[in-house]
Amino acid sequence: MTSLHHLRAGIIGSGFIGPVHIEALRRLGVKINAICGSERAREVAARWDIPQVFTGHDFQSLVNCPEVDVVHITSPNRHHHVQSLAALRAGKHVVCEKPLAMTTTETAELVETARQAGKVFAVNYNVRFYPAVLQMRAMVQRGDLGEIIHVNGSYMQDWLLKETDYNWRVLASEGGELRAVGDIGTHWLDTVSFILGSPVTELLADLSTFHRTRQRPVGEVQTFSNEAVAHTEDCPVDTEDFASVLLGFDNGARGNLAVSQVAAGRKNCIRIEIYGAKQSVWWDSENPDLLHYGRRDDANAAVLRASAGFTDASGYTDYPAGHAEGFPDGFKMLYRSIYTAIATGTSDGLFADAVAGHEELRLCEAVMQSHRERRWINL
Ligand SMILES: NC(=O)c1ccc[n+]([C@@H]2O[C@H](COP(=O)([O-])OP(=O)(O)OC[C@H]3O[C@@H](n4cnc5c(N)ncnc54)[C@H](O)[C@@H]3O)[C@@H](O)[C@H]2O)c1
Repeated sequence: MTSLHHLRAGIIGSGFIGPVHIEALRRLGVKINAICGSERAREVAARWDIPQVFTGHDFQSLVNCPEVDVVHITSPNRHHHVQSLAALRAGKHVVCEKPLAMTTTETAELVETARQAGKVFAVNYNVRFYPAVLQMRAMVQRGDLGEIIHVNGSYMQDWLLKETDYNWRVLASEGGELRAVGDIGTHWLDTVSFILGSPVTELLADLSTFHRTRQRPVGEVQTFSNEAVAHTEDCPVDTEDFASVLLGFDNGARGNLAVSQVAAGRKNCIRIEIYGAKQSVWWDSENPDLLHYGRRDDANAAVLRASAGFTDASGYTDYPAGHAEGFPDGFKMLYRSIYTAIATGTSDGLFADAVAGHEELRLCEAVMQSHRERRWINL
């Protein structure tokens, strides 16, 4: 395997997901030379022994840092566009969190700038790198499922269930016009198109907001944090808590997706069911090592990763069957794929690039248009 150890990363953002990037990179042996964020970045740098810290959200100093080859952008969505441009212009490779930016105007500019820069530009759609997802993709490609008839699924969370649950994502100005769909629905849409090898060509969407006012803490709050909050203020909410989306794919398959951030008891559950003419396959991310095969005339099967019938993800899974792999392992596999592409100049074609990130914003804008105009939208 090509060594990744000479590559040096810098991380923008030190909230929830920044340290997930850091941990995965450290497991691969990639050096992390700089981090940028608020004052809290100092704590994260101390915990992970990162030598250079840029506070005050001074991302320009980080992207200019000569000891950084690859910039990871893990700040809130509103900053992705300007920070990606700055990193590309400084000659760096980029790994940007999803969604790639706020609008297709921004993402189209990033597609073009990344193309001209000739650097690796990846969007952090990590769900692609669950071994079960790679297995489903291989099965579809080989024709094991036959013609794909329809796809069904959801992405459900409960961390925004209460009126007192608040995060920058609930504001369109910080996270984008679509919240549940942009934040987590695009993970599902990206993953299903990746598995099918087929883009969405039409959709019909219905959105709803359960909490039109939320209690906003006075001061910064980190994602998924349970910190006690002393003072709050009323905050009008202009983004959706729940979405239903009907889909048509280029290969003729039909689909339906439900997305919610107010689904009590569902912590972080992506469910994907793919129904083919020969058999079906289904999976959920809260049981990541288990894949179900559904058959009409033979017995159904529940198959464990790295055991008979579930071995198509080799190269993207490190542990034997029975030693569970999950969320953090997917990040490790994603960065192995990206950093190998940087080190060798040859990509395995599996990670999402700027074009894939742009495609998700196109879908988001179509979802919003469909909801507003109450009609199907062709893409
Ligand atoms: N791939 C995934 O599974 C996944 C999961 C969670 C979040 N995300 C994405 O990661 C991003 C961050 O989400 P989070 O949950 O970690 O948020 P968070 O609020 O927990 O952390 C955001 C961090 O960015 C910093 N920040 C704010 N403005 C900045 C600026 N201008 N420059 C530099 N840093 C700035 C904050 O100080 C904080 O450290 C979002 O785009 C989100 O969609 C992806």
